[in-house]
Amino acid sequence: MMNIAVFASGRGSNLMAILNAIKEGKLNAKISLVISNNSNAGALEIARANGIDALHISRKQFSSDEEYVQKILNELKSRNVELIVLAGYMKKIPSEIIKEYPNKILNIHPALLPAFGGQGMYGLNVHKAVIESGVKITGVTVHIVDEEYDHGPIVMQRAVEVRDDDTPETLAERVLKVEHEIYPQAIKLFVEGKIKVSGRKVIIKDEN
Ligand code: GRF
Repeated sequence: MMNIAVFASGRGSNLMAILNAIKEGKLNAKISLVISNNSNAGALEIARANGIDALHISRKQFSSDEEYVQKILNELKSRNVELIVLAGYMKKIPSEIIKEYPNKILNIHPALLPAFGGQGMYGLNVHKAVIESGVKITGVTVHIVDEEYDHGPIVMQRAVEVRDDDTPETLAERVLKVEHEIYPQAIKLFVEGKIKVSGRKVIIKDEN
């Protein structure tokens, strides 16, 4: 069974959705580790409540970038982690980690990339920008992580309608529900070896 590490900075509802998919037998994988840069993250509590190793790892705990990166890599390697799943992780992934996990890091973004992404586009900022722009459709994107924010090849997208009376909060709530549906599905494709990256494109192999 594939070992997964989830990196999360906040409440951890996507972590919970992935755990539920595993419990329901929809996803055959094991979350072996949760890492957060934030010691108060709900995601760490969810992990501990489910018997998953939960580590608070922050750059501030180390005297150099090298030691920080080495600590994360050691924790991943010692658990044979083959896939890193970012679920509301607010720190940039160091390039050494991206090199060690090429095309093996997934992220979820609460809009249809390449629109409404990039640095500073997180949380309610995204939904505010979506509403202010007047677009009628937003959505969810699962993508592979590369060196640029919200930039790597797109694995899966789903559209969500923007309503005239939406506030950033109401829109965030509807988008989040879709995140919880598609993140486990995208992870399942990865775990089953059905994702092939070809330049900017992700080809999903026949699902039969
Ligand atoms: C989600 O909206 C996700 O798209 C974004 O950060 C949020 C994380 O929420 N990257 P949660 O911590 O999984 O509840």
